Amino acid sequence: MDLPFEPYRIKVVEKIQRIERDARARYLRESGYNVFKIPSEAIYIDLLTDSGTSAMSDQQWAAMMTGDEAYAYSRSFGDFKNTIQDIFGYEHVIPTHQGRAAESLLFAVALEAGNVVPNNIHFDTTRANVEYQQAIALDCVCDEGLDPTLEAPFKGDMSLAKLERAFEKYGVERIPFVMMTITNNSGGGQPVSMANVREVSGFCKKVGVPLIFDACRFAENAWFIQQREEGYEDREIVDICREMFAMGDGCTMSAKKDALVNIGGFLGLNDPELAQKVTNLLILKEGFPTYGGLAGRDLAAVAQGLREVLDPDYLAYRIGQIKRMGDRLDELGVPYLKPAGGHAIYVDARKALPHIPQSQFPAQVFTAALYLEGGVRGVEIGSLMFEHKDPDTGEMVNPAMELVRLAVPRRVYTHTQLEYVAQVCARVMEIGKDLQGLEIVWEPPALRHFTARLQPIGGGKMLRTP
Ligand code: F0G
Repeated sequence: MDLPFEPYRIKVVEKIQRIERDARARYLRESGYNVFKIPSEAIYIDLLTDSGTSAMSDQQWAAMMTGDEAYAYSRSFGDFKNTIQDIFGYEHVIPTHQGRAAESLLFAVALEAGNVVPNNIHFDTTRANVEYQQAIALDCVCDEGLDPTLEAPFKGDMSLAKLERAFEKYGVERIPFVMMTITNNSGGGQPVSMANVREVSGFCKKVGVPLIFDACRFAENAWFIQQREEGYEDREIVDICREMFAMGDGCTMSAKKDALVNIGGFLGLNDPELAQKVTNLLILKEGFPTYGGLAGRDLAAVAQGLREVLDPDYLAYRIGQIKRMGDRLDELGVPYLKPAGGHAIYVDARKALPHIPQSQFPAQVFTAALYLEGGVRGVEIGSLMFEHKDPDTGEMVNPAMELVRLAVPRRVYTHTQLEYVAQVCARVMEIGKDLQGLEIVWEPPALRHFTARLQPIGGGKMLRTP
């Protein structure tokens, strides 16, 4: 049997339903063609994000029930800390309510205005949190990572040449740390190789700058290393994780991804001084250092989720499910970023809708059309999300790729449901030439993709023929 096999059976289910096309068209208009603003009960298959959307296991729910709600040094914090130290190896474990809280605390104490933070590609909240400190978020992914058609095993790798150039250009005193996002979400959920981490870590040590992982999808990244990198095929997932994290000095983590929970995050750090500064701020902003904005039961669920995510049967099924959706899109002629990512498929909207220029948000048009045609919610990762000011020229620049991310929640949807999504994508390809571009009618000053309102160019219809 070639289907990736679910290593679990289903104990609890949640009803979903598909509303009529007319109602979907109305929701789309009322939301300003922004699917973030459509209520969840009007969504049929929700691939907006893999973040906080996992189905928890019976063991996680059991851990929730036995969670210790003591304010300080709860048993659940002990389990949380020990499990994280076992996998990640960092001395100081600082709980936060989600990933961006970890980022914002770290950046508030470690960055000054005018600093520069290189990363393979910064995720949107990471970029925004760096920029909030008036620092520059610099993307240094390898060139292969920017070519959506190229099949390569580790397109999340950082270009050492680009990193070195950044140090030459800005000087080491302006670069307090380097980041590595595993897997590289904004570049297609593509993994980073151990060899690349070794190279980047070696460089960071040479110049005396810490390396911090953005570790949200660390287990998926480790699985790719085991499957694709020579010398790792017989290594256990947990060993691969330990080897990788040992080459860095800390991590930010959104537990909403690979810890298989609905809320949570943490910072892992080796530097005691930095950890102390972050903790001081944590008490002010998030809570006591042993719960950091989470309930004891949340900490317990994270610890259990981190143990479960390392299961090779789970990872084979998880990543196999995404690959299979990619194979179906190939059969149906839907272009997507190759190879399929660890947590999502990224439809290549420039290829899918070649008549819509980047200034008219082709990936947002594809996203809106997926909802209109099938009630499927994806998310634009293109110029609506990432258009930004070049720090040198001050000119607005568009990202290299226009993508629609179909992020698959963990342990939530079946093969049949993902087959349906593939068919809705094919339907959007069929009507593609009749789709019009979009224009912004209102946008906030930062992270505009969450709340911006759009309309079809000139206020007409998005789909020319009904
Ligand atoms: N870093 C990466 C690589 C992420 O993908 C995310 C979140 C964060 C940091 C921030 O974590 O949401 O817990 O504050 N990504 C979600 C997504 C939102 O849909 O990809 P958070």
